[in-house]
Amino acid sequence: MKALVLSGGAGTRLRPITHTSAKQLVPVANKAVLFYGLESIAAAGITEVGVVVGDTAAEIEESVGDGSKFGLDVTYIPQERPLGLAHAVIIAREWLGDDDFVMYLGDNFIVGGIAVLVDAFRRDRPDAQILLTRVADPRAFGVAELDAQGQVIGLEEKPERPKSDLALVGVYLFTPAIHEAVRAIRPSWRGELEITHAIQHLIDQRADVRCSVIEGYWKDTGNVVDMLEVNRTVLETLEQRIDGEVDEASETVGRVVIEEGARIVNSRVVGPVVIGAGTVIEDSYVGPFTSVAENCRIVDSELEFSIVLRDSSILGVGRIENSLIGRHVEVTPAPSVPSAHRLVLGDHSKVQIHT
Ligand code: DAU
Repeated sequence: MKALVLSGGAGTRLRPITHTSAKQLVPVANKAVLFYGLESIAAAGITEVGVVVGDTAAEIEESVGDGSKFGLDVTYIPQERPLGLAHAVIIAREWLGDDDFVMYLGDNFIVGGIAVLVDAFRRDRPDAQILLTRVADPRAFGVAELDAQGQVIGLEEKPERPKSDLALVGVYLFTPAIHEAVRAIRPSWRGELEITHAIQHLIDQRADVRCSVIEGYWKDTGNVVDMLEVNRTVLETLEQRIDGEVDEASETVGRVVIEEGARIVNSRVVGPVVIGAGTVIEDSYVGPFTSVAENCRIVDSELEFSIVLRDSSILGVGRIENSLIGRHVEVTPAPSVPSAHRLVLGDHSKVQIHT
């Protein structure tokens, strides 16, 4: 069995935290979303992985490399333009050969991995297996309609009037039966060859298409509350590891990861918390469910339930909570006169000022 991981698509700079243009590299607990996907593929016993790449190929290839750090053997499959998920299957046809495969969308995050699902698929070998999850607003997803027995009878891509709240999760298990289906469909209104339509084609042909409903699913939709929540869920599973320096005047409590080269000086860190390599925490408090990435400086401040991306500084500003702070950001106190806020905010920023 192989894995086809989709990491192409046009870059997006619109999400609150992606200065990076590859949305698959958005970090959760200081690790790219794509890396969790690759790790769960490896944990499911799959080693041959084809990674579909587009505009952001250089960034993806630089961070994933040949896959050996995940125990994988990665082949890159360039896609000229993001012409759809089914198009990605078409261009990967030769590499896939006649193997069964799991198709994994690189911007999806599945708590608990996919090993159990892959095992069940290997055992039963239906023509295709899809995953569904309940979401608040299904209009942003592919949506499934089930019959009374729980069989999938219809799939629609981003419907205006969804027939259920069951969204298609971006992990699909296929036998080679999918190859005929991806060739049988036409582009959708958005000009893409939709995998949703290819699976509908299989259903119409009376193929064996099964579904399972999962919990613990996330993708970056630009929603900060969701992002902090998935960060929290992952930090919950953290195991204590202190590779950096914690001085005598500091205290760490609970499950805290301090990466090599990080320094905790005269501070209190209460886990679960992860502090990235090269980051300095000085005269500060860092509280539960916080991820601080590499090379940051947190000085004379308090931080809780937040995400700070790399190369940022928070200096002498009191307490920050429920916040998402991008890369190379500086948060500092204003001079006392004139009494005014001075802001340089990127596109789509949101600031709440305590007055
Ligand atoms: O995330 C789940 C949803 O993913 C499903 O509910 C939908 O049915 C499915 O169509 C898909 O919808 P999106 O519109 O969210 O997919 P998106 O364009 O964001 O692409 C998903 C991933 O695949 C992303 O990592 C980029 C990559 N991609 C996308 C396209 C269209 C490619 O590598 N090549 C492509 O041509």
